[in-house]
Order: sequence, then structure tokens, then C-alpha cells
Amino acid sequence: MLSRRALQTTTRAFSTTRAALLAAPVEKAPLVKEFKIYRWNPDEPEKKPHLQSYKIDLNQCGPMVLDALIKIKNEVDPTLTFRRSCREGICGSCAMNIDGQNTLACLCRIDRSPTKDAKIYPLPHMYVVKDLVPDLTQFYKQYKSIEPWLQNDNPPVDREHLQSQEDRKKLDGMYECILCACCSTSCPSYWWNQDEYLGPAALMQAYRWMADSRDTAEAVRKEKMQNTLSLYRCHTIFNCSRTCPKSLNPAEAIAKMKLEMAME
Ligand code: SF4
Ligand code: SF4
Ligand code: FES
Repeated sequence: MLSRRALQTTTRAFSTTRAALLAAPVEKAPLVKEFKIYRWNPDEPEKKPHLQSYKIDLNQCGPMVLDALIKIKNEVDPTLTFRRSCREGICGSCAMNIDGQNTLACLCRIDRSPTKDAKIYPLPHMYVVKDLVPDLTQFYKQYKSIEPWLQNDNPPVDREHLQSQEDRKKLDGMYECILCACCSTSCPSYWWNQDEYLGPAALMQAYRWMADSRDTAEAVRKEKMQNTLSLYRCHTIFNCSRTCPKSLNPAEAIAKMKLEMAME
């Protein structure tokens, strides 16, 4: 049997070891993963676009692809260029092609398999401004062309145009679009005809305003779509809905618009 003194000493030693263990940072073995990232700099026209390789210890990095890009930019290569802002799937600016899929880097978890490298490109079939930054000028022009605002010249009944809860519900699944362009740049019809075909993002927003019970410009909005290219280049391939990082369904909105226009 231990004497009282021996017992006190043992207890003290145990507490000291426990405290030391709790205080010590847990050093995890490095989990190194290779990121191959598209690089192109308009100021160096003699250099062709290429994939540049970066190795990152995933145990020293946040869980999302955007965390890895920020780590590379901050700690390895400040010249790497990409867009980002909110870091939580709201601004739409970090849209890019990751391992073959258009998505938001901030919502895309890093695949932790160290044997599988990650390949990151800008959104496909767009002009590139630099590295992972696509030129969205045409995309925004098309969005502007659908006049994405409420049109109603009647004076509001009670300072604002009212809407029943039922009518408001019709906008669910469309108003949440963050205009990231993942859908339009995954659409084969948009790749080949983006000068005239509006693409799923702009078309879903066009339908969002047609479906709004407060808007009185529905007929004019539909009239603008009555040509062979703006709307009817959609061949219901559904790439757009499969890729949307916000789980929206632009193909369904386009199908509804086509149906309504066919019934008139
Ligand atoms: S529908 Fe989805 S993929 Fe397309 S722009 Fe909107 S949020 Fe992005
Ligand atoms: S459903 Fe229409 S808009 Fe969507 S990917 Fe297919 S062709 Fe493009
Ligand atoms: S940083 Fe805003 S959506 Fe990714």
C-alpha cells in the first residue's frame, strides 16, 4: 500500500503529465497534396498557358479548395490570381472548374486523397483575364439584356406592390441565383453560341421576372425571346442543373418558359 506522501507525489506527477499533454500542440504528420493550377498571364504573351504544380500540407490548410488557393497565394506564390470575396457561397466570384466540374471553390471540399492531384482551371469556354479569372463581360451584358428589375407603371396600392404568399412562392428556386456562371459555362449550347444564346443563368432570371405576379411586362419579355437563338438554343441537356453549386434548376425554369410560350 502507498504511503500518503507517495500517493500525493504520484497524483502531482500525473496532473503535471496530463497538463503537459493537454498543452502540447498535436503535431499531425504532413498530408501533402498536389494542386495543378492553370496559369496564364497576358503580360507575358510569349509564355503559353500551362498547369503549375503546388504542394500543400492539408493538415496546415482549411478544408475547402479556396483555403488551398489562399494558402498558395499567401505563402507560396503571390502572383496566382483568382476572384473571391464572401468565402461562403454568396457572392459567386470564386466560380472555377475543379477536377472537371464547374463549382464554387469556397463550397468545394478538398479531396484528401494524397495520391490524387487536384486540377483547377478557369470556367470553360470563356476568355481568360488572368489565371483563374474569366472575362464575364458578355455574361453580364446578357443578364442586363433581360432587364432584371420589376417593371410596373401602376401606382402601388399601399406604397409597395403587394404579392400573395402563393405568388411569392413561385419565385423560390430562382431568386437565389448568385450569378456565378457555373451553369452557363457548362452548357454546350452556350459554348458554341454565346454571342446570341442567352444561356441558363440569364434565361432563368428572365423567367424569374416573367413569373413575378407584380411585374406587368411579361408579354414584352416573352416577345423578346421569340427568335431562334435567345431561348430555343436550349436543347434540355441538363448540364446546367447538374452543375449549379446552389442546387437550383435553370433547365426546369427554361422548360417552363418554353411551355408557357408554346401555350399562348
Ligand atoms: S443558376 Fe446556379 S449555377 Fe447558374 S448562375 Fe445561378 S447560382 Fe450559378
Ligand atoms: S438544359 Fe439547356 S441551358 Fe441547360 S445545359 Fe442544357 S442546353 Fe444548356
Ligand atoms: S467566395 Fe463568394 S461564392 Fe465563393
